[in-house]
Order: sequence, then structure tokens, then C-alpha cells
Amino acid sequence: MGEITNIMEYQVIAKQKLPKMVYDYYASGAEDEWTLKENREAFSRILFRPRILIDVSKIDMTTTVLGFKISMPIMVAPTAMQKMAHPDGEYATARASSAAGTIMTLSSWATSSVEEVVSTGPGIRFFQLYVYKDRKVVEQLVRRAERAGFKAIALTVDTPRLGRREADIKNRFVLPPHLTLKNFEGLDLGKMDQANDSGLASYVAGQIDRTLSWKDVKWLQSITSMPILVKGVITAEDARLAVHSGAAGIIVSNHGARQLDYVPATISALEEVVHAAAGRIPVYLDGGVRRGTDVFKALALGAAGVFVGRPVVMALAAEGEAGVRNLLRMLREEFELTMALSGCTSLAEITRSHVITETDRLRPTPRL
Ligand code: GLV
Repeated sequence: MGEITNIMEYQVIAKQKLPKMVYDYYASGAEDEWTLKENREAFSRILFRPRILIDVSKIDMTTTVLGFKISMPIMVAPTAMQKMAHPDGEYATARASSAAGTIMTLSSWATSSVEEVVSTGPGIRFFQLYVYKDRKVVEQLVRRAERAGFKAIALTVDTPRLGRREADIKNRFVLPPHLTLKNFEGLDLGKMDQANDSGLASYVAGQIDRTLSWKDVKWLQSITSMPILVKGVITAEDARLAVHSGAAGIIVSNHGARQLDYVPATISALEEVVHAAAGRIPVYLDGGVRRGTDVFKALALGAAGVFVGRPVVMALAAEGEAGVRNLLRMLREEFELTMALSGCTSLAEITRSHVITETDRLRPTPRL
């Protein structure tokens, strides 16, 4: 392939480079993969209403997330087991995120520990948490993350059981034996046994707490002073509960379409959640973000920022740290161009009237 001109091209290279079991694990969604496709397609049904003749010679993309200043509203989502993609794994992602001036979210199931990631140098990092049945394990891990300097918890709330990813079942997916889930190494939970189907699905069934409920958000807050982002909300009802539970923010996520299939695209669910949160806590989005135009659309519909997951792993597989750096640079440049061509010089100037959704088009009388 010639010069990489958009971040989706990394997926083509990753597919050529990675063992099939590994590529399929990263690429696949649940069951029919309807939501996987829809996460992308829903963005393509949102159109722009750009404003013209506005001085866009200076554009400010900076923002703050939970009080932390970052260079752009594009952050790195948690993705598991990054050393399967590249030997540098999470180290590379951590360095590239810091270099881009943005936040990296480390997965509980990382192949590098919280301490190892912090040892790569300064940076603002969040920790994605899976709640294990053994709450002592969770307490210990959360304390370690806090001590190491992580700034927030992204609590995954959509995974009482693992979604049915058929490629993983066919491939008998399992973490390669030379790697470990580093955060759990000393706890005898760092390895994944081969199973008759997906080794990860069996691991989740054995270890992850299916009883998790809203009261546990309060419990989690009682063992840490890190703010908690509830990751996996896609309805107004749950957005209101998240606000009441004391969450510091919401991540509208369908887990990269890897959990319940036939849920709406996150960009389609975003406005409902934003309205329910009613400005009381910030709402972020992940799922299907591949272009600077997608970032703009999410912000116009009320997101305070977005997270990118799968593309980071694909860029990592293709080119290691350089790939992730390049990916973040490309997204940043596309987003800046989108702002310029829409007539916006700061994030505050991006408004709902800069986009038109399908629902808007169905309205008998224009909203504007
Ligand atoms: C991990 O979080 C996965 O969805 O595979």
C-alpha cells in the first residue's frame, strides 16, 4: 500500500500481518455484526450544515476532561491484550497518546501492568475496570491503579457475560501462552485456559461478577477517590441512573458492537443520553469513530469528547508506536479541517445546528 491517507487503511495492513485468531478477535463484533456495521453507517446518515465566511485562521481544539486539559476531544479507548497486536503493546499506545497530548484508557485485560504503563513517562491515563467476583481482587487493582497515578475509572457495565463472537468460537480464541493479563499475574488470574469455544468467554463466565448493579457504583466510589465514568450506557433511563449513582461521566458505548447485537449505533443513541444527563455530567462516545467528521458530528450532538478503540489496535499492529502516533495525528488533522470547513474555531462553537440527522429530516417542519 502507498502512503496511508486515512485510519481505516491500518485495518487492511493489520489483517495481512496478524495471525487470523488475533485479527479476528480485534475485528469481530457479536453474532450477525449488525451493530458493528451500523456503528459506521449511522455516522454516514448525519450531514453537515456548514457556516461560511467565518475567520478560521486560528482553530482551538483543546478541551478538558474531568478537569484534565487535553489537546483535542479525541481519546484512546480501552482495548484488551495489545501485545498480541505488537510486541510493544500498551507501552506504545501509552507513549503515542502522551505525545498527542491526549488520554489513554488502559484495559483491565492489558498485557502490561498499570505500573509498567506509568513507567513509560508522563501522561493522563484512565483505567478501564472489569468487576471480578472476588472483590478483594478488584479493590487491590483499583488501589494499584490509583497509586500508580491513574486519574479515573472507566467502569464497563455492559459485560455481565461476554457477547457471542462467532469468530472467536471458531478459532478457539485464547490469549497466547507467552502473554499474561499482567494486572492479574500475581493473583493467579493472568492466564486464559483453552476452551471448547472462546477461551475469553469462559474466562469471563468464571471470573466476572454477573451480580453487578447500580449499588456497586457506590461501592466502587467508596474504595477510591478516582472519578468514575460509567461505560456502556445507551438509554436515557440508564443515563439518569448513572447521574443518581454519583458517576462523574457517561461513556455512550456498545463495546465496539461486541456485546449485544442489534443495539443502535452509539451515535444514534447519543442525543437521548445527552438529554437525560441534562448537563449534570459530561457524556462521551465511543464506537465507529473513524474520521474527523465523525468527531465533529458527535460533538454537535452533545458529546464532550470521543474515544477511539479498534483503529488504535490496527495501527499498533501495522506500525507499532509510530502507527498510533500517525493515527492520532490524522484524526486530529481531519477534525481540524472539519471545524474550519464548518466555520468553527473552538469546540464551544460546534452546535446542534451544524448537523442534520435523519430524525431532523423526517420532521414536517424544520426545527431551525
Ligand atoms: C474486551 O473487552 C473485549 O471486548 O474483547
